[in-house]
Amino acid sequence: MEGLLRSSILAASRSKGVEKLVTNAPVSRDVVRRYVGGATATDAIDAARTLVKDGLTVTLDHLGEDTTERAQADDVANAYRTLLTGLDDAGLTERLGPLTARVEVSVKLSAVGQALGADGEKIAFDHARDICAAAEAVGATVTLDAEDHTTTDSTLGILTDLREEFPATGAVVQAYLHRTEGDCRDLAKSGSRVRLCKGAYKEPASVAYQRSLDVDLSYVRCINVLMAGDGYPMLATHDPRLVAIGVERAKAHGKQAGRDFELQMLYGIRPNEQRRLAADGHTVRVYLPYGAEWYGYLMRRLAERPANVLFFARSLISKG
Ligand code: FDA
Repeated sequence: MEGLLRSSILAASRSKGVEKLVTNAPVSRDVVRRYVGGATATDAIDAARTLVKDGLTVTLDHLGEDTTERAQADDVANAYRTLLTGLDDAGLTERLGPLTARVEVSVKLSAVGQALGADGEKIAFDHARDICAAAEAVGATVTLDAEDHTTTDSTLGILTDLREEFPATGAVVQAYLHRTEGDCRDLAKSGSRVRLCKGAYKEPASVAYQRSLDVDLSYVRCINVLMAGDGYPMLATHDPRLVAIGVERAKAHGKQAGRDFELQMLYGIRPNEQRRLAADGHTVRVYLPYGAEWYGYLMRRLAERPANVLFFARSLISKG
């Protein structure tokens, strides 16, 4: 039932009519505020400052995806450069180790041009390279978000090229894809930062596990591969069982909390647990999205939690 609701929301989220209804509904602002760190870079830097003050590390995401015009891709890349300068001016940037930084940015290659026809990959690579250079100049790093499965090969290819110049660039893999255990084996090397998440897109059974139990089992297999390897695993999940398994597996493989791996969660989800884990000696990184293009992001968060959808739908009917 939950799976059905999840895929229905993800399918409905592609309707322009639903987008208009949700974007214009007054209640959206309250729901958005819970998950999004504000509309502007200034708002996001303020939110990041609060998180850092609470002992957390941060990865900021300038919201937007599926860019269809060159000018839009250029704007997104500029927004990242402005953000990185702002984070530096605010005194928030600091390298924590050869691979890690207190604040970093997460980039969706589709937002910087990956889907712009035959030149898309080159445009996305050039923009990502500029963002990596801007990040390195201020002591930050970049992680390439994972999007739907049709982009996985292209994104991992661009990652490999970026790492030649910027080795700290982080990869993201999605446990729901059948291929991911193999990708983890390829990526679990010395100097390789790898974020492991469950995966947030609607994917067909030909490429992805459909039952949440199968996704969880795949997540555990991927934890084992990443923790046994020499890389720097970043376990991105709010699932308490998977966090506990990850911490236990890290210990079994001699990886030290606060140094050899990190835990990651989304802004607004289990905030008390984020702080508790940080106080317990873990590096906890909060994924902090900001910007006006919050629609796709919000729909994926609603799809993850039926309780949120019911709350949201009730508010739409009563206030919309
Ligand atoms: P699951 O959805 O099973 O949730 C476990 C528990 O967490 C729930 O029972 C609930 O308590 C809590 N919870 C989870 N979601 C909630 C919500 N929306 N509201 C309130 N409580 C909630 N995906 C992707 O495809 N590409 C990417 O690049 C990334 N990047 C990324 C970075 C980071 C730092 C995180 C944490 C996640 C991602 N994701 C992602 C999203 C990820 O794939 C996944 O969709 C969500 O993290 C939800 O999965 P969980 O592992 O939290 O488990």
